Amino acid sequence: ANASLDRALGLVREVPDFPEPGVLFRDLSPVLADADAFRAVTDALVAALPPGIDTVVAIEARGFLFGAAMAVTAGLGLVAVRKPGKLPAVADRVTYALEYGTATLELPADTLAPGARVVVVDDVLATGGTVEATAGLVARAGAHTDAVAVVIELAGLNGRSRLPGGAPVTALLTV
Ligand code: PRP
Ligand code: MG
Repeated sequence: ANASLDRALGLVREVPDFPEPGVLFRDLSPVLADADAFRAVTDALVAALPPGIDTVVAIEARGFLFGAAMAVTAGLGLVAVRKPGKLPAVADRVTYALEYGTATLELPADTLAPGARVVVVDDVLATGGTVEATAGLVARAGAHTDAVAVVIELAGLNGRSRLPGGAPVTALLTV
């Protein structure tokens, strides 16, 4: 029913065997590079937000792109959760398991208020580990993950099952 959004999602480039053999990578670069497409995706993510959200929590790096666009469009504050070692003042950090090794994310100091009503934003939901870890930071700050918004969900990995119960997950493209 939304031709602009359908066109935008049609711009996602499928790259076989990246970053390793057997993986079909979905590249959002062509969507970002197209003004109408980026707008359509941003508007669709904003339109799906439940009422009462006051803060976007976006995840480095690709989550920043869509999260920042959503925050400006919707008139919400933006909290940029970062990869380790970048922030001068860290409120909290979380380390979580990857297929090989671990990853860490850091919450900047003096950004996320207790009681904030948050949408966690990333570009892709795969195993769900990244969003799950971020929701953990939100919870430990005394804030609430009321929604999760991603552009693409890799449904076969069942990342959704790891996310906080009760928070609706919006994915514009499920593959
Ligand atoms: C990618 C993607 C998501 C995450 C999804 O980030 O952008 O953030 O993996 O995977 P998961 O659901 O299995 O946790 P990545 O850290 O690879 O790169 P980026 O810095 O380019 O966003
Ligand atoms: Mg990422």
